[in-house]
Amino acid sequence: MLKRTHYAGCLRKEMAGEQVILSGWVQTIRNLGSVLFFDLRDREGIAQVVIQQDENPELFSKASELGREYVLSVRGTLRLRENPNTSIPTGSVEVLAEELEIFSPSEVPPIHVHEDDNAKEELRLKYRYLDLRKKSVMDRLRLRSRIYQSLRNSLYNEGFTEVETPILYKPTPEGARDYLVPSRVNPGKFYALPQSPQTLKQLLMIGGCDKYFQIAKCFRDEDLRADRQPEFTQLDLEMSFVEQEDILSLNERIISKLFKDVKNIDVSTPFDRISYTEAMQRYGTDKPDRRFALEIISLEEVFKDSGIGFLRSAVEAGESVKGIFLPGSDLYSRNQLKTLEKKVKTFGAAGLATLIFSSEVSGSLSRIIAPEEVETLRLLTGEEDGILFIISGKEKTVLTALGNLRTTVAKEKELYDPDSHDFVWIVDFPAFTYSEEDERFVSEHHPFTMPKREHLHLLDTDPASVLAECYDLVIDGYESASGSIRIHDSALQSKVFSLLGLTDEEIYERFGFFIEALKYGTPPHGGIAFGIDRLSMILTGTENIRDVIAFPKTLAATDLMSDSPTEAGKGQLEELHLRIVHKEEK
Ligand code: AMO
Repeated sequence: MLKRTHYAGCLRKEMAGEQVILSGWVQTIRNLGSVLFFDLRDREGIAQVVIQQDENPELFSKASELGREYVLSVRGTLRLRENPNTSIPTGSVEVLAEELEIFSPSEVPPIHVHEDDNAKEELRLKYRYLDLRKKSVMDRLRLRSRIYQSLRNSLYNEGFTEVETPILYKPTPEGARDYLVPSRVNPGKFYALPQSPQTLKQLLMIGGCDKYFQIAKCFRDEDLRADRQPEFTQLDLEMSFVEQEDILSLNERIISKLFKDVKNIDVSTPFDRISYTEAMQRYGTDKPDRRFALEIISLEEVFKDSGIGFLRSAVEAGESVKGIFLPGSDLYSRNQLKTLEKKVKTFGAAGLATLIFSSEVSGSLSRIIAPEEVETLRLLTGEEDGILFIISGKEKTVLTALGNLRTTVAKEKELYDPDSHDFVWIVDFPAFTYSEEDERFVSEHHPFTMPKREHLHLLDTDPASVLAECYDLVIDGYESASGSIRIHDSALQSKVFSLLGLTDEEIYERFGFFIEALKYGTPPHGGIAFGIDRLSMILTGTENIRDVIAFPKTLAATDLMSDSPTEAGKGQLEELHLRIVHKEEK
């Protein structure tokens, strides 16, 4: 076998004259009759190979049989090209072939392995192994591998122990549905795939592990989005005898090291911290992208006695009137504003009012607004030209709609450098929020999170105002990590479960083992989990989570390549004591 001496993509003009053996795939072939060129691709890039008929007729006829994606090794001499190709790094050299070893032919591939092949994503996912041959696609996976390397190194250096926890386990509540696995040997019983290793890592702290981490696969059956997959990877960690401050500073160290290792970016620490309430008020979200301003402005004072009926009555009813101001002129056409209004309506807003300031005032409110109000707003917005977007209604709806408008407008108007990064801790989350749908309190983070000590007395009387020892790390508008200090007292843990509406039987059945474990000497502990897929998205600059996963699933949770999930055979179902009941049979 001809064994590779160099990667094709690494050949450079200084190496001219050397004997090389390259191995890879044929990208393109040009047979000009007396001379044949082909581009050989490997994971590092492509190099041109040339064979001259008069110099080597046997080799020429062998090469004439090559097709796209054939796999081979080629031995030859590297020489300078007469007509260098400046668009690729290997463009000043070519290999004059002396020997070819063809390992595998290839049928005509259904996608062209080329950076700008324009193939539909479905086709790329169906033939993912071909798509992976593109350098840009493989480069993202290689960068992801460097993320693992950096994080592992940092945590080993900080004295952490890497521990694997089971995949066949019991439900771990993280707010999604479980993926269940039937047990053949325990008829009628099911394992749940972990939504996270949350209880297991806490049990490791009870077990004396002190500092644990794991690169953990998590499984969640939930609505999928551009940054969510049904199975994804966390960097999960937990530490004993620590307070919030210890965890935040450890994570600042490993994240700044990560950005240095992978992108050579210097990240300054400590990261800013803002409370959940402040994030919501200023940015309309608990995952703000602060690479641009466009902060939310409160306008209740301006419109409390206004002649504009719907704004005045909103203020009178105790609702919100808020806006964002986008400076500039000729920003949006009337039709584009209508599209923006449609978008904010999907977030529950009743409408999107506008005031466009230039030498005159236009926009949907311009005919009904009083001159004094225009004057006040001009002062508020710094007397610049621009558009003031206004939404009124329930506070939560107004904030969410403006938060989304803020990011849409910033993206459309390119208000930030997409290569820049912003890091911010969101802290002081509420411990519980009331779910109108479930008619009960639900945990904002998860039920193992410690309420703030000074708020413990409010658990019985006013759970909605209890804050938690909980923190999220937001990078560039992505919730990239989330964690908390945990409850380490079994009575308090049981109390929180009851507050969340679980009966004593349910607590015993679902978490009895855990509550019991807390009784045998539990250290104070806390931790965090990073979404590695999201970190990879941020570090590779993509907005599509599927770009950073070797074999991702679609938004419908299917794998197009292997066509999974599939139906189970009758025999298999019987063995598992399962029967499929179709709706009409019920
Ligand atoms: P949480 O549920 O917030 O916390 O998850 C932690 C981080 O994991 C990432 N993430 C996801 N990434 C891709 N697809 C998904 N479906 C998905 N869901 C979550 C996010 C998120 O910030 N046990 C706790 C952590 C702890 O308290 O230590 C937990 O799992 O980046």
